[in-house]
Amino acid sequence: VLAHLLVPDVAPRCTVTALCDAARGRAEAAALAHGVPHHFDSLDEMVASGLVDAVTVATPIGLHYEHVRTCLAAGLHVHVNKTIATSVDEATDLIERARAHGLVLLPSPGEVIRPQVHRLRELLADGEIGTPAFAVCGSSHGRYHETEAERAAGPEGEVIDPSWYFLRPGGGPMWDVTVYALHNLTAVLGPARRVTALSGCRIPIRHFAGRELVAEADDSTLLLLDFGDSLFAFAHGTAAGTLTRDFGTATYFGTAGIIDGYRMNGELIDFPGSELVGQSPGWDEHQRVLPHVTEPHWALAEQHVFEDVMQMVDAVLEGREVPIFAEHARHVVDIIESGYEAARTGVTQLLRTTFELR
Ligand SMILES: NC(=O)c1ccc[n+]([C@@H]2O[C@H](COP(=O)([O-])OP(=O)(O)OC[C@H]3O[C@@H](n4cnc5c(N)ncnc54)[C@H](O)[C@@H]3O)[C@@H](O)[C@H]2O)c1
Repeated sequence: VLAHLLVPDVAPRCTVTALCDAARGRAEAAALAHGVPHHFDSLDEMVASGLVDAVTVATPIGLHYEHVRTCLAAGLHVHVNKTIATSVDEATDLIERARAHGLVLLPSPGEVIRPQVHRLRELLADGEIGTPAFAVCGSSHGRYHETEAERAAGPEGEVIDPSWYFLRPGGGPMWDVTVYALHNLTAVLGPARRVTALSGCRIPIRHFAGRELVAEADDSTLLLLDFGDSLFAFAHGTAAGTLTRDFGTATYFGTAGIIDGYRMNGELIDFPGSELVGQSPGWDEHQRVLPHVTEPHWALAEQHVFEDVMQMVDAVLEGREVPIFAEHARHVVDIIESGYEAARTGVTQLLRTTFELR
């Protein structure tokens, strides 16, 4: 996301003044490489420095709660990468702290602002595929964190260890990748009511930079969700395989048709900006319709994360309500946390949280 924030069209609204990373030398090397004026090895020191108004938190998921809380306590607005926290209680605490201090708290992934998602909601409500019978979504972890090119890019040849992706809390595909599909699904169908699941660790040993990583987090989780009126969905977060066309989307089976990702009965759905889709392959093609993803950003990765950061910036500058809201992210945390509890106990869990679609 740093590359996006350094593109000149961002500068009138936001400038990167400091980088922080607890691994000694990493923030300094990145600051030097990208011309960022300040760097810190300690989050406490950065938030106390008076140099920043807002932070984008991109640390391991299991540390998000602590880091977002630290930023809010220092009076800073926060964008936090997925997933906001790893329990409903933590997410509630962050929501209440942000509200009490009048601060913006904006969690990724912002699936809910996509024009595609709004169109899906309309198509289902208008009965375009008849009565929706059930939905399927999810993503597999695969081995991509073991092979990401960026991991060889630490200062002085140091590698950036992905072990936390396979440890608790915060490890496993549910918090990391299935979270996109769960946001997308609930942005279309609204909040779920109950969850039940099976879950376990299928690949206990992984490999990175010539050594073994011992995985303790589940990498094989199958959830069943109840949306009421006998409308059910199935969500997977697994070590391999996928059931959906597009990363982070769902397939809806209706009595008169199928919506698979952003295609209805095989044809791309129409939505504002749909002419931009098809110009670029794969995951990136659906990012170009996002309002801040202008042409200079097309060649850069992780466009959706940049969009979410800029939504936080806009909310701060314009004093408006955030369109990507933490109550939605908390509900997805509830689904994952309650899913693990259902798998552990063998008992279907009633979800504790809800949210209203905006
Ligand atoms: N890897 C991806 O493809 C990807 C894509 C989109 C979003 N994300 C999200 O970005 C976040 C980070 O993922 P990543 O893959 O970059 O992880 P990573 O392990 O590569 O990087 C995390 C960084 O956080 C630093 N860190 C750890 N503890 C810290 C602390 N106490 N204070 C300051 N810095 C600390 C580490 O030193 C490391 O440099 C996660 O929320 C993830 O979901 C990752």
